[in-house]
Amino acid sequence: MERRTFVKLLGTGGVAVLLPTEIPGCNNRQLEALRPWETLPDIPQNSDIRLKFVSYAILAPNAHNKQPWIVDLRGEGIDLYIDPKRLLPQTDPQARQITISQGTFLETLVIAASHYGIEANISLFPNGIDLLEQIGKNPVAHISLSSKEQKDIQEDELFNFILKRHTNRRVYSGPPLTDAEITTLRGSYTNKDYPLHMFIDPAILSDVAGMMTEAMRIETYNRAMHGETVEMLRFNDDEIEQHRDGLSFPNLGITGMKLFFAKLFTSRNSAFDESFLQRTVDSVREGAFSSQAMGLITSRGTTRIDEISVGRYFARLFLTAAQLGLSLQPMSQIMEIASVKPHFAKSVNLQNEEPQMLFRLGRSSPTPHSARRALNDIVNQ
Ligand SMILES: Cc1cc2nc3c(=O)[nH]c(=O)nc-3n(C[C@H](O)[C@H](O)[C@H](O)COP(=O)(O)O)c2cc1C
Repeated sequence: MERRTFVKLLGTGGVAVLLPTEIPGCNNRQLEALRPWETLPDIPQNSDIRLKFVSYAILAPNAHNKQPWIVDLRGEGIDLYIDPKRLLPQTDPQARQITISQGTFLETLVIAASHYGIEANISLFPNGIDLLEQIGKNPVAHISLSSKEQKDIQEDELFNFILKRHTNRRVYSGPPLTDAEITTLRGSYTNKDYPLHMFIDPAILSDVAGMMTEAMRIETYNRAMHGETVEMLRFNDDEIEQHRDGLSFPNLGITGMKLFFAKLFTSRNSAFDESFLQRTVDSVREGAFSSQAMGLITSRGTTRIDEISVGRYFARLFLTAAQLGLSLQPMSQIMEIASVKPHFAKSVNLQNEEPQMLFRLGRSSPTPHSARRALNDIVNQ
């Protein structure tokens, strides 16, 4: 069969036929890049407890799996910085998603600390907020820690779902979300400044799925934007091990024979072929239209503090979905494509609210975890 024909067989919303390990020549290697998902693999028993919190926090959801964090442990507590070398200037030109990804990190860290009986108190932007051009100069947050002796800290029950949570880009199917599930998701946080909208009406789901597809089509056919995403695709195990960030085919929901052929016949160059672009949009369409519910976190303001707060609440909501056994995929393109965003705001009736995190929800089998960098690469000690 021609290489091009193989490429056409690929779909990023593929359904499992065989497990990757069941296919000769497919990944049955233990990847170091996935070890951070094992329970505290790197941390010796008596080491700095702050490393334990950070080792969970790096498992937080984050845009393009850039892992845009620098953690400074040289002083008291923990200082978190945006890594200015890990921005997404094409797909996230205002660094909005990168800032939300600081919020997901912080919330995951707070939850992990509670497991160890430690309260993590966050002061945002202790030295002020950097302009876009200077992002990463000053800390996003200083985290001070107080132990159980001083305060009685309850473990956050979401701790148990940090290692389970993952972004699931498969097609969703099965029974619709129950009222109880929707109520639990709605209860994952309460703050009237960051409203959570849940959509289950089929007409709205279909309308928004159409806009998700259109926004993705525009992004995919923009060479610079698509190029930035392709930069973060990891085409084989060696690339996963080398970079320990970004997205691999299994993370895109490709498993079984499709994974086998994807690894064999797709490359960074072929990712610009018309067939690849089409398959990318088609798979997003398929996924979007299979949504069994959608959620949207908005903010009343548009400051960096708002973005971090959105990230914190989104992390809680994502972990709550994992607790319920539900699949979730953020869909950011509508928020970044100026020609689609106002139609979306109108169709879901937003008034004086900024759409921040839009995501689809449903049921599907899990996909493998995405890579994470070694702690040494993120932490200054
Ligand atoms: C701000 C933000 C925006 C995101 N946007 C998208 C998106 O548009 N499409 C998508 O498939 N995943 C999106 N994600 C999910 C990330 O790609 C995912 O969290 C990352 O690859 C790490 O994988 P994990 O969530 O499985 O740990 C987003 C996550 C965050 C925090």
